[in-house]
Amino acid sequence: MKSDTKTLLQKFECPQGTPLGGDFATFDYGKGSFIWSENKNKKYFDATSFFSVANLGHNPSYLRDLLYQQKDELIHAMGDVYPTSQKAVLLEKLCHLFEMDKAQLCITGTDAVEFALKTIELKKKNPTFLSFENSYHGLGFGALSVTNYPGFNLFSTPYKSIVAPYPSPENKEAFLSFFKKMQKNAIDAVIIEPVLGRGGVIYPFEGALEFLRELTHKQQIPLIFDEIFCGLYRTGDLRGTTVNCDLLLIGKALSNGLPLSVVLGTKELMDLWPLNEGEALHTGTFTGHGLSIRAALATLSEYEQFTQKNLQENQQYLARKMKDVNGEGKGFFYRIPVPNALEAMKKLFKEQIVILPADVDLKYLGYYPPLTTTPKEHDFFFETFKKLKLHDAR
Ligand SMILES: Cc1ncc(COP(=O)(O)O)c(C=O)c1O
Repeated sequence: MKSDTKTLLQKFECPQGTPLGGDFATFDYGKGSFIWSENKNKKYFDATSFFSVANLGHNPSYLRDLLYQQKDELIHAMGDVYPTSQKAVLLEKLCHLFEMDKAQLCITGTDAVEFALKTIELKKKNPTFLSFENSYHGLGFGALSVTNYPGFNLFSTPYKSIVAPYPSPENKEAFLSFFKKMQKNAIDAVIIEPVLGRGGVIYPFEGALEFLRELTHKQQIPLIFDEIFCGLYRTGDLRGTTVNCDLLLIGKALSNGLPLSVVLGTKELMDLWPLNEGEALHTGTFTGHGLSIRAALATLSEYEQFTQKNLQENQQYLARKMKDVNGEGKGFFYRIPVPNALEAMKKLFKEQIVILPADVDLKYLGYYPPLTTTPKEHDFFFETFKKLKLHDAR
């Protein structure tokens, strides 16, 4: 069965589609923090929430109820012409929750980034962005202009971007001296991940985001926070930082598994977009998707219940366990030093744990399982980690 799937993919999929090397597997089932391979005979612990999407676990019962008890509610809507009434409910909820004036629903994270960059272009034609080393904002042409993750430079991009060192604690000096040297009026907006996700699960040094807020205020340019990875309680809090911004991007875990993202912004920036009088300027067939919107509403109310009950306890337990392995981070968003992250990932996979390297230098594993992971489930990971002697005393 396994080789059949692989053969089919080899034959029929574009070579870019799926890595078919050593640890090839398919997963068709999931519940909570676990996933099962194709024929349901092997159970794996998921330390990735499948790209930080299943924050409330795989196939949580509230989402299954929504999908299977579906009556006549529209699954697909004409979201930018005749939307479902729930679109308005969700937008109001999101604006209140994130304390922003207006919002635009998008489909993927990349889509939200593209919308944000276009918003800046409505303010200033051919803008220059300030982005950061190893940042990942998606792979659309616009998003690629500000994505500085190694290996994604095959295609031409529409926007200019000046790249600054990410403000990790080690980079503090380099970061500050970069801004000392930066010419006045060189940039038209700043885009940053308040916690660098794919680039290494790196938390900025204290005061770094405040510094950017002040700089952007002084220069009267927008500050964009891409919280697609670090937002929605990944760090233990609703948002990845308490610093405010002009455009805030949320995606991934918004519907806990259905494609939906959102750009939230100040009235001043959002109102740069012309009034939609029948022809939307940034949309897609699935924008304002009926089912994704209802899933987001259900997910947001589930977060409310979860954060009241289990959030504190779960993260305190994890913080204690992380001390033993020199894990760095907070909430449910950590990196763990290992001698070689690729080797460690392979070894853990053999022990039925799905995990990914955190950083481009392969010095860390990323640990970001569902927030609902129980102490016993975390223990399975930490005991296996110990058994395999993956500890790096760095
Ligand atoms: C911070 C950040 N922004 C944007 C994206 C792009 O999101 P998507 O893959 O949904 O297009 C990602 C994806 O990992 C991300 O981590």
